[in-house]
Amino acid sequence: MKRDDLLFSIINKEYERQTSGVELIASENFVSEEVMQAAGSVLTNKYAEGYPGRRYYGGCQVIDEAEQLAIDRLKQIFSAAWVNVQPHAGAQANMAVFMTCLNPGDKFLGLNLAHGGHLSHGSPVNFSGLVYQALAYNVGEQSGEVDYEQLQEVALKEHPKLIVAGASAYSREWDYARIRQIADEIGAIFMVDMAHPAGLIAAGLLKNPLRYAHIVTSTTHKTLRGPRGGVILLGEDFENPWGKTTPKGEIKMMSALLDSAVFPGIQGGPLEHIIAAKAIAFHEALQPEYIAYQTQVKKNAAVMAQALVDKGYKIVSGGTDNHLMLVDLRTKFPDLTGKQAEQALVKADITTNKNMVPFDSRSPFQTSGLRFGTPAITTRGAKENLMGDIVELIDTVLSNADNDAIIKSVAQKVNTIMRDYPLFAW
Ligand SMILES: Cc1ncc(COP(=O)(O)O)c(C=O)c1O
Repeated sequence: MKRDDLLFSIINKEYERQTSGVELIASENFVSEEVMQAAGSVLTNKYAEGYPGRRYYGGCQVIDEAEQLAIDRLKQIFSAAWVNVQPHAGAQANMAVFMTCLNPGDKFLGLNLAHGGHLSHGSPVNFSGLVYQALAYNVGEQSGEVDYEQLQEVALKEHPKLIVAGASAYSREWDYARIRQIADEIGAIFMVDMAHPAGLIAAGLLKNPLRYAHIVTSTTHKTLRGPRGGVILLGEDFENPWGKTTPKGEIKMMSALLDSAVFPGIQGGPLEHIIAAKAIAFHEALQPEYIAYQTQVKKNAAVMAQALVDKGYKIVSGGTDNHLMLVDLRTKFPDLTGKQAEQALVKADITTNKNMVPFDSRSPFQTSGLRFGTPAITTRGAKENLMGDIVELIDTVLSNADNDAIIKSVAQKVNTIMRDYPLFAW
C-alpha cells in the first residue's frame, strides 16, 4: 500500500514545531523514545476487555503481563494499595469515581473552575456539572490560595457526598489533612485529582495525597511524563469502609466498584499499547534520575516565577510550590488579554495558554492570565540559568505584542537557543 506521505509530513511539521520552540504549557511534557515505542507497538492490535487474569477475549496472556507490570509499578511509586491503569484519560478516571460515589443529582464540591479548577470538577458543560449538582469553593481574592474556611462553610451547609481537591491552574501545595477532616465531619468521600503535580509527588517533592484521600485520580501525561492517559489509586486504609451492598446483595469493595465503573461502566476495550507505555513511564519514575528531573522542574518554576515578579508581573498567590504559575497580566498590561498574549507568544515560538485568573474581569475566551509551566522545558535539559532568558523573551514579546518584526526576532532567538536542548537527549 502507498505510504501516507501527507500525514507523515504533518507529523514531521509537528516534530519541527516541538523541537524548535519553548514549550511552557504546564500540562504538557516530552515522553521518552521508549514510551513512544510502546505507544506505537503491536499492542494496539489487541482487544482485552476486562482485567489481567479475567478477560472477555482469548490471547490476552501476554497483554496481562504488560498491564500487571503497569499496576505493580504504579502501586510502588505512590505506595498505593490498589490501582486501575485503564482510564483512557484523566476525565475518564474522574468520571469513574463520580459514577462510583454519586447518584445523578447528588451534590459534590470542587474548586471553582474560574479559580484554577478543572472542567471535570463541575463545569456546566461537562458530565460532572450536567449529571451531578456541582458546588464550588474558591481561592481568597488577596491570598490567591484555597479558602479552606469557605470550603468548610459550603461543606457544612450543603453536605456534598464527595469533596474534590486538585486543580489545573493552582501553584500551591494543598492542605489535604484539613479537607479530609471536613469530609469526615460530614461523612463525605474525599477525592484528590493529582493530575498536575503527580510527577512531583512521585519524586517525593510534594505531599502524597494517598495518605489523606479516600480516592486519588491522575493523568499520566503531565509532570509524570508518560503517555496520554488516566489512572485511579486507593491508599491502604480506604478500601474496606467504603464497601457497598449491590442490588444482588453482594458486598462490593471500593476497588471492585471502581473497576466496574471503568469497565464496563464507561469504557470498552483498554488501550493496551498505552498501558504498556504507562508501564515504561512508571519504570522511569522509579529511577534515581527522575528525582533529579522533578527537583529541577520545581527549581525552574520557582526561578521563572521570581524572574516574572522582578519584571513587574503579578503571580497569583505570589509564587509557586510546584511546576506552574498563573500570571495576572492586568498589573503590567491592563489592556492586553490572555488571548492576545498567547497569540503573540505563539508567533515567537513560545507556547503557553491563556487562563482565567481568580476574580477575572474577562471571559474565558479572552481571560486576563497566562499559565506557564516548566515540566516540558526541563525535560529538554533547561536549568535555572535559562529561565531568566526565557522571561526576558516573554517580556519582549508582551511589551511589543503588535510588533511583528520584534516578535520575529524573538522567534529566531528561541529557535537558536532550543538547538542546544535536543528532544531526546535523556
Ligand atoms: C486537574 C486535571 N484533572 C483532569 C484533567 C483531564 O485530563 P484529560 O485531558 O486527560 O482528560 C486535567 C487536564 O488538564 C487536569 O488538569
